[in-house]
Amino acid sequence: MFIVALPTLALAAIIVLIVIAFAMANSDYQDGKRAPGPRAWPIIGGIPFMAKFKDSTEAFSALAKQYGHIASIKLGVMDCVVLSGYKTFRKVLCSTCFDARPDFKRINMMFGGDRNNSLAFTDFTDTHHKSRNLIAAFSLARNTSSLFETLDIVSTENIVRLVEQVKTEAEKNQSVPLKNMLEKSIAKTFLTYFCSTEVEENEEFDQFVEAFNTIFEEVNQPCVGDILPFFMNFISKDDVVKASQVIRHFVHEKCVEPRLAERKMRAEQMIDENNNKTEKSEDSSAEIVDLLDAFLHTAETSSDLTIDQALFALEDMLGGHSAVCHTIIRMLTYIAGNTEVQNKIREEARANSTGVATMTSKLQYTEATAWECLRHISSQIVPHKATEDTEIDGYQVKKDTVVMFNNYDLHFSPELWDQPEEFKPERFLTEGGTRLMKPDFFVPFSTGRRVCLGQKILMKMSVTIIANLCQAFEIGLDSEQDYSVPRCCLAVGNKPFKFNFTKLDS
Ligand code: HEM
Ligand SMILES: *[C@@H]1O[C@H](CO)[C@@H](O)[C@H](O)[C@H]1NC(C)=O
Ligand SMILES: *[C@@H]1O[C@H](CO)[C@@H](O)[C@H](O)[C@H]1NC(C)=O
Ligand SMILES: *[C@@H]1O[C@H](CO)[C@@H](O)[C@H](O)[C@H]1NC(C)=O
Ligand SMILES: *[C@@H]1O[C@H](CO)[C@@H](O)[C@H](O)[C@H]1NC(C)=O
Ligand SMILES: *[C@@H]1O[C@H](CO)[C@@H](O)[C@H](O)[C@H]1NC(C)=O
Ligand SMILES: *[C@@H]1O[C@H](CO)[C@@H](O)[C@H](O)[C@H]1NC(C)=O
Repeated sequence: MFIVALPTLALAAIIVLIVIAFAMANSDYQDGKRAPGPRAWPIIGGIPFMAKFKDSTEAFSALAKQYGHIASIKLGVMDCVVLSGYKTFRKVLCSTCFDARPDFKRINMMFGGDRNNSLAFTDFTDTHHKSRNLIAAFSLARNTSSLFETLDIVSTENIVRLVEQVKTEAEKNQSVPLKNMLEKSIAKTFLTYFCSTEVEENEEFDQFVEAFNTIFEEVNQPCVGDILPFFMNFISKDDVVKASQVIRHFVHEKCVEPRLAERKMRAEQMIDENNNKTEKSEDSSAEIVDLLDAFLHTAETSSDLTIDQALFALEDMLGGHSAVCHTIIRMLTYIAGNTEVQNKIREEARANSTGVATMTSKLQYTEATAWECLRHISSQIVPHKATEDTEIDGYQVKKDTVVMFNNYDLHFSPELWDQPEEFKPERFLTEGGTRLMKPDFFVPFSTGRRVCLGQKILMKMSVTIIANLCQAFEIGLDSEQDYSVPRCCLAVGNKPFKFNFTKLDS
């Protein structure tokens, strides 16, 4: 009873406050040092301003229109600035004064009680920097490196299997629920590439993939408890905490334990060998076979990283498979039913690959299509936080101010894009379509020290998966399906995402 009464009371208090807020005249920030913005009310701050709009995208546009390229707004307890325009983005993203992240209780809950365990939500620390470097060697491997070749081989094998699986399903019913098949296929590529772990398709693997879905959905949704922490007392995140435990259990059992045993054996062998030699060798890092090895090696041989931190970082990267899957599903909602785009993708894939498109096939049009999808998806850049008292364009910004990015306006500005509402992959190609051309102001993966570590894998995998699907099928939308997703949100939600696959003669 008491438990029920408390949130009700709190809610009532907040409603009263909101009513008072609306009743009073709306005076703006006017101290001249801080950027202008709507008035901050006690406790709720600028929430009444935000509440006037359908979503944060629309609210950010209104802020930009009313207050300019840098606007201050207080959201609950959080002092924020909302930035608009690429020049401002770049200035802030490339500065080291803004590379921390906001503190959200629910994020701490997801990462063993400390957001600093998470690659994406930690402040920029020495440990983070070291983890990023270890990861980048694998996730941003150069096109011509042997690591990249490995990724290509693993990914291509899984794509070929996926296409076969869709063919089999489409024979039974043309409307094929793609999402689950796709995420498992991509999860296998990630597990093999990063951890050399081959998994069987069983219930445990299903739960692992599902757990990552839960986490991915969670980190892509806003939560009232982020800005009004008091509410976190009444919001249960048990399912999310449980999901993170499922992931840890799986990674430990399937990847880490077997590898630790193997590493121990290898080390003993090496001691043996070395003992029988007169001189000691050697540099054990030559043995590093994958990202899992790189993390374990660093955790064992230096104080930069604990095993626990290494595992959290590894799990974050494995979780990238959800991001790739959700993105490809989003891309397909734009491509399915668009015969013209599919024909071009198909033609390019057939002309530039021998049957199966791989990561080294020249697929400019398909890549341009992927960029165009990313522009339309327009997912938000993860908020940053000021690490010290500083300024942006002469406006004072206090330490711990959260910085948010209005990238939707950037992606749909009629000044920057020709017919921005239209879906036109050609805008990312040179005249004649021979080369890709990505404008500098288009930064869906951000820039600077915290730039996305998954962008290369994402682009390569989405391009090859889409090219191979289009080679094998005409893909249509199923009129009975609901493909709608919230604007500017990467996560697609818990729907089967059935597409209509018509097999083509190859
Ligand atoms: C369409 C898909 C994706 C988009 C649009 C995207 C975009 C972004 C953005 C905007 C950031 C924040 C950068 C910043 O704060 O300045 C980020 C961070 C990150 N992304 Fe991605 N990403 C995607 C997929 C992936 C995938 C597939 C992976 C892993 C394989 C990945 C790994 C990461 C990591 C580890 C970070 C944290 C970096 C840090 O905070 O230091 N991302 N991503
Ligand atoms: C994360 O690290 C930052 C900076 O080192 C620190 O201020 C913050 O309190 C840490 N967060 C948690 C939950 O420990
Ligand atoms: C590697 O591949 C990417 C994506 O296809 C392409 O944009 C880039 O130019 C390639 N780099 C090299 C060095 O070939
Ligand atoms: C095929 O799938 C659609 C969409 O889910 C469904 O409405 C239909 O009944 C299925 N057809 C058969 C023959 O199972
Ligand atoms: C090293 O020498 C020991 C005894 O001298 C022997 O038992 C062992 O097999 C040798 N190990 C290798 C790897 O040669
Ligand atoms: C790749 O595909 C495009 C589009 O069909 C075609 O114009 C081009 O000649 C192909 N390139 C190669 C190397 O086959
Ligand atoms: C799937 O596409 C085929 C070919 O275009 C069409 O005949 C069929 O009606 C479509 N099915 C659904 C469920 O949309």
